[in-house]
Amino acid sequence: PCDASVEKERTLAMIKPDGVFGNYTDKIKEVILESGFSIITEMVVQLDEGNATVFYVEHSHRDFFPGLVKYMTSGPVYIMVLEKVNAISDWRALIGPTDARKARISHPSSIRAMCGLDSEMNCVHGSDSPQSAAREISFFFGEMPGGIVRHEEL
Ligand code: TYD
Ligand code: MG
Repeated sequence: PCDASVEKERTLAMIKPDGVFGNYTDKIKEVILESGFSIITEMVVQLDEGNATVFYVEHSHRDFFPGLVKYMTSGPVYIMVLEKVNAISDWRALIGPTDARKARISHPSSIRAMCGLDSEMNCVHGSDSPQSAAREISFFFGEMPGGIVRHEEL
């Protein structure tokens, strides 16, 4: 019980605009809860170009970046902080590979296989490391410059 390895962890989960528009929010939340995560907080946000650029700044040199920013600002996103033991890697495993076409072949029961289209419109996001989780939670719920400043939690 005092083993540090069983400490709970938090991660940032996002349902992207295609997932929200496709009405996948309730189904995805069902899978989240069935998989043993607690939803600590949740909110709906409309990202603007500046927000999306800061959120994905690590990819800003990539040729897909302009398309990514356009996609991420095309409608509201649904943000959740999830908690459980191994939340970060378990949520990544649950969403599946980045490219939803590959997900449908190699991870057919993943969330991206269920509701994603391809390597851009892949329906959901998950933090990829403890550092990313801390940064992304602070982006949406903290004081990060370029992050979300005004929001209403649900
Ligand atoms: P990445 O961090 O590689 O994937 P993940 O979301 O699985 O962590 O890429 C971030 C996002 O950038 C990805 O979810 C969708 C977009 N993207 C593209 O539009 N085209 C691509 O070829 C890649 C690799 C990513
Ligand atoms: Mg990533």
